[in-house]
Amino acid sequence: MKIFSEIKQIQKFISQLKDENQTVGFVPTMGALHQGHLSLVAEALANNDVAVVSIFVNPTQFDNAEDLEKYPRTLEKDADLLKTLSEDILIYAPSVADIYATKVEAEHFSFDGLEHEMEGKFRNGHFDGVGTIVKRLFEIVTPDNAYFGEKDFQQLAIIKKLVEKYHIPVTINGCKIHREANGLAMSSRNTRLKTAYRNAAPFIYETLQTANEKFGTKSANKVTEWVYQTFAKHDLLELEYFIIADIETLKTVKRKSNKKNYRAFIAVYADDIRLIDNIALK
Ligand code: PAJ
Repeated sequence: MKIFSEIKQIQKFISQLKDENQTVGFVPTMGALHQGHLSLVAEALANNDVAVVSIFVNPTQFDNAEDLEKYPRTLEKDADLLKTLSEDILIYAPSVADIYATKVEAEHFSFDGLEHEMEGKFRNGHFDGVGTIVKRLFEIVTPDNAYFGEKDFQQLAIIKKLVEKYHIPVTINGCKIHREANGLAMSSRNTRLKTAYRNAAPFIYETLQTANEKFGTKSANKVTEWVYQTFAKHDLLELEYFIIADIETLKTVKRKSNKKNYRAFIAVYADDIRLIDNIALK
């Protein structure tokens, strides 16, 4: 297991790999790794000669100082978990100064409107932060393939747009949402849930599944109303948004069309912890 923290070191190593015509699969993460992250790394290992995993809690994508401060940082544990997949994974764990020098600021991006929907509405500047770090990491790691989870479906769409707009020579691969046995989408933030909230959280995916069934016969509006009513009755979970959107534009659906594909997206507060999830609709 190789752990790099300096840009020069990792760039030198990767340029040697490239000289040997080896392909590089890249999984950007913020650490506190779980099986969801590992499923992406397994894809990278299966389809490339070398897998690189970056671990960097990116300050510019947090709109909440407390969330940034409390974000779990567990590099040693992360390395041990990655070792269970392969000893040959490269970890890139830079410092904030390495990435941002003295100016910890995001670039401003236009992602053709994708950035204004859902998470963009509720997390100010979030996608500028994500765009800045992912573009920077692509420049440093120069991967052939990169892997992103459908758990953050809007982020995945935005990264595809970033790559298209800046002509970055990397193929973006979307990976399925990895869930706990009780249906809760795995997330680094789950470890911070107090027991009562942890027990309540599977309700989020249960509701998404029922919404999916209802969408077969009911309008998007009716299903959305039903979800809001259901959460209003819940003692512990607070709904921030539920939206049924076109998967291309991420805009809220007004009238269903057979030619389009839809997903339902949800953000919920469990105490002070924000959880997101989504489901493909039939
Ligand atoms: P992070 O939340 O650590 O997630 C890293 C990658 O793992 C993302 O592509 C995310 O969608 C994926 N992932 C997380 N939970 C998953 C699950 N349960 N199933 C499948 N994939 C899952 O997303 C970020 O970090 C950051 O925004 C980043 C892209 C690294 C930029 O800082």
